[in-house]
Amino acid sequence: MSNWASIDVSASEAGKRAAAEAAAALVEDGMLVGLGSGSTVKHLVVALGRRMREGLRIVGVPTSTGTEALAKENGIPLAEPDAIIDLTIDGADEVEIGTLRLIKGLGGALLREKIVAESSRRFVVVADASKIVTTLGDHAPLPVEVVRFGHAATVRRLTELGGAPAVRRDTAGGPFVTDGGNLIFDCAGFAPIRDPFTLQRQLRAIAGVVESGLFIDRAEQAIVGAPDGTVTIMRKFDAGTV
Ligand code: A5P
Repeated sequence: MSNWASIDVSASEAGKRAAAEAAAALVEDGMLVGLGSGSTVKHLVVALGRRMREGLRIVGVPTSTGTEALAKENGIPLAEPDAIIDLTIDGADEVEIGTLRLIKGLGGALLREKIVAESSRRFVVVADASKIVTTLGDHAPLPVEVVRFGHAATVRRLTELGGAPAVRRDTAGGPFVTDGGNLIFDCAGFAPIRDPFTLQRQLRAIAGVVESGLFIDRAEQAIVGAPDGTVTIMRKFDAGTV
């Protein structure tokens, strides 16, 4: 038995791929599968496409236009999140040891990701080991999706809450616009997030806030990949041993 402190927590493509491929093995014939977003999930979609060419039959529910395009390229038929989803597999920006509470949304897809997560029977996280934290906010700011109308007033409320909101920018330097047409403010000021339930209630009490990147009661397991390609399954209340 080793401790999280002893595993190599570097960010790595090999870790992402290993976690995604292990998660792809959880998918069974006939499932409706929620497909998350981000660079780790790209490996998942490719792995599921490969399995489909070998005979697997599934329908995917994509959480972003990016995932939708990749799923189509890989021959995965798609549906809207109307029916209950059997299993959703998604990445994360932070995974808190012991609780499996998550910060998500650095890719900007947090709203659709949360809608899909909430309609899923099972929700599994895939991540490289760099995403593991002891307290939410250790590495990543908290993304908060905000409607454009009156956003200056919403930003004032986020500032009063202590969030230190900074508008997310796209590669051209303009404000990043989500698939839902909203803005994202990255809030580094909430860290360390010791009581995410209260924070989530406070955020959702602001009219202009659409959703936050706190996913705090969804994940049943996290599949974590290390740079050497080994994979560890993390469950809730696992106090840090693997
Ligand atoms: C997208 O909005 C996010 O929630 C992603 O799931 C998260 O940012 C993880 O992305 P990577 O797998 O690219 O790190």
